[in-house]
Amino acid sequence: MSAKSDQRLMNAGAMISTLDISANPLDFIAEDHMREREICALIDQLTEAHTPDDYARVSVLAFLSHILPQHLADEEIDLFPMMRARSEPEDEIEKVVEKLQADHRHSAIDTPKIMSLLKDADHVHDADERQMLAAYALRARHHLIFENAIVLPLARVRLTVSDLAEMKRNMLTRRGLDRLLENPSC
Ligand SMILES: [Fe+2]
Ligand SMILES: [Fe+2]
Repeated sequence: MSAKSDQRLMNAGAMISTLDISANPLDFIAEDHMREREICALIDQLTEAHTPDDYARVSVLAFLSHILPQHLADEEIDLFPMMRARSEPEDEIEKVVEKLQADHRHSAIDTPKIMSLLKDADHVHDADERQMLAAYALRARHHLIFENAIVLPLARVRLTVSDLAEMKRNMLTRRGLDRLLENPSC
């Protein structure tokens, strides 16, 4: 990889923030959603670019390979089960979670295809590939709107202090940062 590509990879890595141990874990999920929105904008750029855009390509790859799997695990393993346990019948949480899990299953199928489309730095996308990229970004945006508008506000009302503490512990462990719980200064 060239020095220029290395620098671009470092810039892309700057989009990966660390989990703030003092913060509400739902705020961290919301921040991941903002990052995902930025990634969708970069995917749109890639669909419109007539020459390969290495910064956008590497940033999208970094997000899809490193951040998205952890984010999906945060939701599937922690957030959704806690929402199921804490919601009231009028929340109709089962329908909400089933829809979101169906979106995640689509993502599990589509994300490797998108990563494969982006692995070659010199590749210029044809019309079908541009369509695939645009459809992926559109689906991700719809998912984000649903989670931001319905799930996170409901979670802020329904989840308990101990739910949030458990979620934060699990999120730190998932990222190999659980030592911070014993020694926050390290
Ligand atoms: Fe999400
Ligand atoms: Fe999600």
